[in-house]
This record gives sequence, structure tokens and C-alpha cells, in this order.
Amino acid sequence: MPLSSTVAIPLAALTLALATLHAPPLRAQETDQHIGDPERGRVVYRSVGYCGNCHGWAGDGKSGTNLQAPVGPNLRETPLDTAALIEVIGCGRPGSAMPYHDRAAYRDGRCFGMGLDDFAPGNAPPRGKTFNDRDVANIVAYLETYVIGRGEPTYEECAEFYDNPSARACAGLR
Ligand code: HEC
Repeated sequence: MPLSSTVAIPLAALTLALATLHAPPLRAQETDQHIGDPERGRVVYRSVGYCGNCHGWAGDGKSGTNLQAPVGPNLRETPLDTAALIEVIGCGRPGSAMPYHDRAAYRDGRCFGMGLDDFAPGNAPPRGKTFNDRDVANIVAYLETYVIGRGEPTYEECAEFYDNPSARACAGLR
């Protein structure tokens, strides 16, 4: 290995360490690539998973739900922690309308050690859009940042959700 590179690496590391000493603390989402990005998670919630069909755009189980879809519980009041959120989004809830989204769900035992064959006919959880681990982390970050514990939905949240201040769904909240 040429001498220049053996010296350059520790120097770069030292410079980085010194720079971070003076930098403001990073938000958790930025320090660990396995922790999700809430803004991306909002897009997955809204436009990939269509979670709002059942949980509402606001996650409250009513605002903007699809009247044809089964009603999902109020996620604003869920007691679930991060691990439990990841599990329910990945594996769904057997015996309910909550779909699973993990691409390996019920294939390799990661969901309760079960395979689809273990369910009585018609009882397996429905399959939602397939998410990778990053999508799930992003959705969980979205829920934890913007939904869980946020009380009643507001017009500002609605406009941000639809990325459109004149979204029809938000009119009643003005
Ligand atoms: C077809 C309707 C439907 C869709 C779509 C749906 N859910 Fe659900 N979800 C449900 C139902 C019904 C339950 C309640 C399951 C039960 O009975 O325990 C639930 C439960 C949950 C829970 C557990 C809440 C708790 O407190 O136990 C979370 C979290 C959740 N859903 C998130 C999501 C997310 C995120 C998406 C989109 C990726 C999504 N859901 C899509 C219907 C749906």
C-alpha cells in the first residue's frame, strides 16, 4: 500500500471527528442508515401502501378513509413501540384485514414462525404492496414523527400530507 493512503485515511477520520465535535447534534434519522426518513415514509404511506384507505390520511381511522375498505384502528393512539410497528407492517395481523408487506413474510419463518400453509383456508393475512426494509423503516419513522401521539389532525398536517394546500380532503379542516 503506498504511504500516502495509509496516512490519508487516519487524517481524514481525525478531521471528521474534529468537525463533528463542533457540529450541532444530528437528528437520529441521519445518524443511522437503518433508521428511517419520515418524509419518504409519508410518500410510502400515501402513495405506495395506500395505508390511508383503511387508516385515513391522518392515521386516525376515519379522515379520508375509503368507505369500501375495512376500517383500521387509530394509529395516532397506538401503544406500539418501534419493533411492534415493524412487525405489524411487515407481517400484517393474522385474523384481521391488516395486510403484510415484508417480501419474505410467511416464507422464511420471520412472521411468528408461520408459513401461509399454516393458516386455515381464507384466514391468512392479505398481502399488501411489497416493501423492503428501508420502506418499512421510513414508514415507521413517519408514524413516529407525524402520527403517533399527535392528537386531532389539523389542516396544516393535511396540506402537508397531500403536498397540496387546496387538497379537497383538507377543505373541512380549514
Ligand atoms: C385493508 C385495510 C388496511 C390497510 C390497507 C392497512 N391497514 Fe393497518 N390495520 C388494518 C386493521 C383492520 C388493523 C387492526 C388489526 C387488528 O385487528 O389487530 C390494522 C392495524 C395496524 C396497526 C396496528 C395498530 C395497533 O395499535 O395495534 C398498524 C401500526 C398499522 N395497521 C399500520 C398500517 C400501515 C403503515 C399501513 C400501510 C402500509 C396499513 N396499516 C395498511 C387495516 C389496514
